[in-house]
Amino acid sequence: STNWIKAIALADVPDEDVIAVQAGDREIAVYGVEGNVYATDNLCTHGNARLCDGFLTGHEIECPLHQGRFDVRDGRALCSPLRDNLATYPVRIEDGVVFVAL
Ligand code: FES
Repeated sequence: STNWIKAIALADVPDEDVIAVQAGDREIAVYGVEGNVYATDNLCTHGNARLCDGFLTGHEIECPLHQGRFDVRDGRALCSPLRDNLATYPVRIEDGVVFVAL
């Protein structure tokens, strides 16, 4: 069964930006994009960098270390030096709270 974890208040999700959130035993990145909320792993698949320290442009998060970019909607790696896609997590919003399925 799906394990929905309470992640963050919807009001605390930044507009057109990213924030790190502790959800259960892992750290994820939560993005606010055009009124939608997305969640991915916070650690880059290429190296030891946190995507919450990167730059969000539209649906693309750019890693702060080597400027690899992922699509936050599906975790797709969009350019070199990335090889591996990023894990994404389903999001559900209920009563002003963002839940993620881990
Ligand atoms: Fe993210 Fe290298 S650590 S692109």
